[in-house]
Amino acid sequence: MSSLMAWVEYMRSDPDQYDRSITDEIEKDVQRLETITARFSSIGSVPTLKEENLNEVVRQFTDYLAKRISTKVKMSLTSQLPPGQLVKINKLLFEWVIENICKNAVDAMKGVGELRLTIALLPNHEVAIDIADTGKGISKANMQKVFSPGFSTKKRGWGLGLTLAKRIVEEYHKGRLFVKSSEVGKGTTFRIVLNAN
Ligand SMILES: Nc1ncnc2c1ncn2[C@@H]1O[C@H](COP(=O)(O)OP(=O)(O)OP(=O)(O)O)[C@@H](O)[C@H]1O
Ligand SMILES: [Mg+2]
Repeated sequence: MSSLMAWVEYMRSDPDQYDRSITDEIEKDVQRLETITARFSSIGSVPTLKEENLNEVVRQFTDYLAKRISTKVKMSLTSQLPPGQLVKINKLLFEWVIENICKNAVDAMKGVGELRLTIALLPNHEVAIDIADTGKGISKANMQKVFSPGFSTKKRGWGLGLTLAKRIVEEYHKGRLFVKSSEVGKGTTFRIVLNAN
């Protein structure tokens, strides 16, 4: 990343040859890359989990996301969780998981539809976070494949979002991530299950 920044500086020093607006955009991309790396730097080592107010974390992050996605996506959040309920998570990584599932949902809806987040308390001291969209759905044949590295139906997809999301939820939070239901042409619901103690 620092060498990319050095190239940006190099291009800056010759504005006749390298258009300033392009250099600025490259710089923004490098900064974005830096944020993402910061989020993942804890993945190589063992990320620390902290007790967080789950309702608050999800509400704040939903607000943040709502501002960044198409206004034609109606986003909503409902929670059955008692206010103040604490759940052990790594906030940055957990938010990254929510962001990626929501981004997939927006893609599946082509930017138009409903995106509903629901938090529910399950028996056995578990918490379920459901993310439901009204998008194109996932075919039976693809249901198992969506979590495989490299599986993507998108022109520019890496097919890594769900692979990493599953790893974050299952390996680092000892939870579960799966497709709760999906119907082609109707929509999909992803479920994250975490332990609430
Ligand atoms: N909500 C959804 N509705 C329909 N299909 C989905 C949904 N979420 C994921 N998929 C399917 O699963 C595939 C894999 O998703 P994943 O997030 O791992 O990769 P991607 O979005 O294609 O690329 P990226 O690495 O940029 O996230 C998608 O390409 C898509 O076909
Ligand atoms: Mg994705």
